[in-house]
Amino acid sequence: MSDATPNLPDAAVPSLSPVDHARVLTRVLLSPVVKGPIVRRPRVVGLAERIDLDSAGVAEMQRLRSRYGAGPVQLRIPGRRIALLLAPEDVHRVLNEGPEPFSPATLEKRGALNHFEPGSSLVSSAQQRLSRRPFNEQVLETDRPVHSHAEQMTAIITEEVEALLGHADFTGTLDWDGFAVMWGRMIRRIVLGNGAREDDQVTDDLRRLRDRGNLSYLMPQNRRLRERFLGRLQVYVDRAEPGSLAAMVAQTPAPADAEPVQQMPQWLFAFDAEAWATFRALALLVSHPGAAEDARAEMAGAVPASPGAEAAPRTEGRADAGPAGPCGPRDQPLLRAAVLESLRLWPTTPLILRDSTADTRWRNGTLPAGAGLVIFAPFFHRDDQTLPEAHRFSPELWSGDRDDSDWPLVPFSGGPGMCPGRNVVLLTASLVLGEMLRQRRLTAEKPLDTGKLPGTLSPFHLRFAVRRG
Ligand code: HEM
Repeated sequence: MSDATPNLPDAAVPSLSPVDHARVLTRVLLSPVVKGPIVRRPRVVGLAERIDLDSAGVAEMQRLRSRYGAGPVQLRIPGRRIALLLAPEDVHRVLNEGPEPFSPATLEKRGALNHFEPGSSLVSSAQQRLSRRPFNEQVLETDRPVHSHAEQMTAIITEEVEALLGHADFTGTLDWDGFAVMWGRMIRRIVLGNGAREDDQVTDDLRRLRDRGNLSYLMPQNRRLRERFLGRLQVYVDRAEPGSLAAMVAQTPAPADAEPVQQMPQWLFAFDAEAWATFRALALLVSHPGAAEDARAEMAGAVPASPGAEAAPRTEGRADAGPAGPCGPRDQPLLRAAVLESLRLWPTTPLILRDSTADTRWRNGTLPAGAGLVIFAPFFHRDDQTLPEAHRFSPELWSGDRDDSDWPLVPFSGGPGMCPGRNVVLLTASLVLGEMLRQRRLTAEKPLDTGKLPGTLSPFHLRFAVRRG
């Protein structure tokens, strides 16, 4: 048995009352499920924004904490034990102690992700993770803030943003639909190579598989479609276009059970979350007084960061400048922090899930092996009873290293299951934002009050006025 607190009763962790159980289902867990866990449903997200569903979830979690103490608390779901975490130290514990006794490959994730990436490290056994997780880390260069492909990424981003804004000049408006088309082209070029720019088929195939993933076990797997999709990815790996991540997949030595090509769907899929986060970060930057000007000043005066620059792995907001290169991609801490703030305020992975592989002890009892553990990230990110910055745009939260003595802000999860793509995300998102702010003056159609931000913000309904100069 894994011990958090020894010498405690063997009684089970307390369950919620039937009324509280119903409230948690409708106010906390319903929102991420109906918005679409694998592919978002923009209309539902718009509706959730109108009724601010996520604030209701945070308020409900605060109520549970005042009623049940530090928890955890069990839900009453027939055939499945699930516990909600209420205390910050439990969040750190569960994220740090993986993949055993807290495995990221939960029943729910396997149901959804097996539709398109059954070999992904995220749904793998502890044994399989031994080769799959390091493979992801090698290609994504997890601990390096500036990926070695940063120059190619910068060139792609500059071109694609220029094309997008050129198009926006005709209407004077930038909306989600235009941004999403640009994003798809950019990501295909970065991941698969320039030759994939117009390969809508690969994105459509993944989209159809993800649609099935939204319905998890309720939907049979479409193996033929999955084979076609994975076969297409293999073509790009064989082509290994220089500067693409596909080329790195081809060149990175890996044992056969690392399933290199099957790691790639997670990247393509997860870049979607980055698109939402980037569009929301843009809204924050152009709404917050002085932020866009500060970002432009930072870009104009920043120290160029060498692609080889190393940073402490725990550092999120700061990209340490390495030895200055003549025209290397730039260090943009403010833009990185804006992206992190966007992810704190509106986490794109609101439910971080783990399954226990052994009986575990807690301050209020035990949980048997096979129990699911749920971290509802918005509760920890927007808990205004604990975090004074809860609803304010506060990039300074990310100016230093955060560790387990800090309140958990976990947009990228944490511990050995932490997102290995986080530095690629922060680099590419900040490059996109930097280019947009450099090339045009943008204003939000409905500016955000950055001192009192809403609990739910649909990226699909944001619009910006665009002008030159
Ligand atoms: C805003 C963008 C992103 C966010 C917020 C994000 C967040 C996360 C989170 C929370 C997890 C862990 C899930 C869990 O604990 O169960 C995760 C896992 C993962 N992410 Fe990301 N991610 C993003 C983008 C990306 C991108 C662009 C890539 C690749 C290029 C990537 C690669 C991965 C991989 C491979 C895993 C599985 C790690 C493992 O098996 O241990 N992510 N991500």
